[in-house]
Amino acid sequence: MKIILGITGGIAAYKAAELVRLLVKKGCEVEVVMTDAATRFITPLTMQALSGRPVRLTQWDDMAHIDLSRGAEAILVAPATADFIAKIAQGHASDLLSSLCLARNCPLFLAPAMNRQMWDNPASRRNLAQIREDGVHVVGPLEGVQACGETGMGRMAEPDEIASAVLSSLSPKILSGKKFLVTAGPTLEAIDPVRVITNLSSGKMGYAVAQAALASGAQVVLVSGPTCLPRPIGAKFVPVASAREMRDAVMANVGGSDVFVSVAAVADYRVANPSSSKIKKGGTLTLALEPNPDILQEVANMKNPPFCVGFAAETGNLEENALLKMKRKNVPMLVGNLAQDALGRDESEIVIFGSGGGAKRLPRAAKTKLAAQLVEEIARAIS
Ligand code: C5P
Repeated sequence: MKIILGITGGIAAYKAAELVRLLVKKGCEVEVVMTDAATRFITPLTMQALSGRPVRLTQWDDMAHIDLSRGAEAILVAPATADFIAKIAQGHASDLLSSLCLARNCPLFLAPAMNRQMWDNPASRRNLAQIREDGVHVVGPLEGVQACGETGMGRMAEPDEIASAVLSSLSPKILSGKKFLVTAGPTLEAIDPVRVITNLSSGKMGYAVAQAALASGAQVVLVSGPTCLPRPIGAKFVPVASAREMRDAVMANVGGSDVFVSVAAVADYRVANPSSSKIKKGGTLTLALEPNPDILQEVANMKNPPFCVGFAAETGNLEENALLKMKRKNVPMLVGNLAQDALGRDESEIVIFGSGGGAKRLPRAAKTKLAAQLVEEIARAIS
């Protein structure tokens, strides 16, 4: 996906660096266009290094304002100053970025950033109403402390929020009206108040699945064990710790779900009698373990189960183990991966096993990309 990122002259321009990084990470080709004022806040060199392409600064080089807007899927201006929004409202073409916006044949997204009094000014109100009426998408702003020291409305939305608003709005809504329930991350089983048994899991794949389902128009509930990841914007987020908490949260939310994707690395066992005080060290410690509920199996064997998708992280014999698991848990789709290729990483390679006996191998790619392909596969299976 090719996106033109316009940067105008506001202090929030430094956040555009993070925005480029996020868009590139999500597989976008980002073409940066900066106004003269923007170059006072952040250097074109920074943006060139992050986007991997030369930065456009002037309309006098060639007919770029036409060429660039023809090839792009969207133009995103972040930060968009009060002055730039006024230009767009009026249809000015006085520099490369405003010319591109006027000559575009793709959606335009603006992330306003300005002082709170500029934001409240009737002229800004009028301009904003006008651009909205013209079909421009406005992301943010947020309320909070501003660079000038004042507090109020006008802070630019955070880069992850802007990236996900743009990408979600551009993806085809193949899952609109569908409800997804996703589990992600590890579970923690207490040994005593400060020690746990857990599985290694970053939560990256589960969060990517939730994000991909959201981008395809689904309603998403994400039940997650502890991770360091930001919550996907737009999902109902249910944080849990133990497998039993995860099971209860899943059962409380499964009603009405069309799809259940069980990505969580649920601990198979918990400590039978966790100590209520810290166990002091010394000698051999023996812990009695008892099995945890199998959440996926329980959901898949409900009376009217949602379409269930399991995950199997194996260290070998992937196909054999995955097929056995699929049969034992009674799930129509199972995603297999090798733990050593996937754990904690941003990339993985997966095989999707279907109930028809087919196996689809997806080569090594970013988990975000694999998750989008998996969600497409699920959409096909339930249509
Ligand atoms: O741990 P196992 O390899 O059996 O996990 C396979 C699938 O079952 C995964 O989708 C996992 O989320 C799910 N599971 C579960 N509850 C458990 C164990 C695993 O839902 N107690």
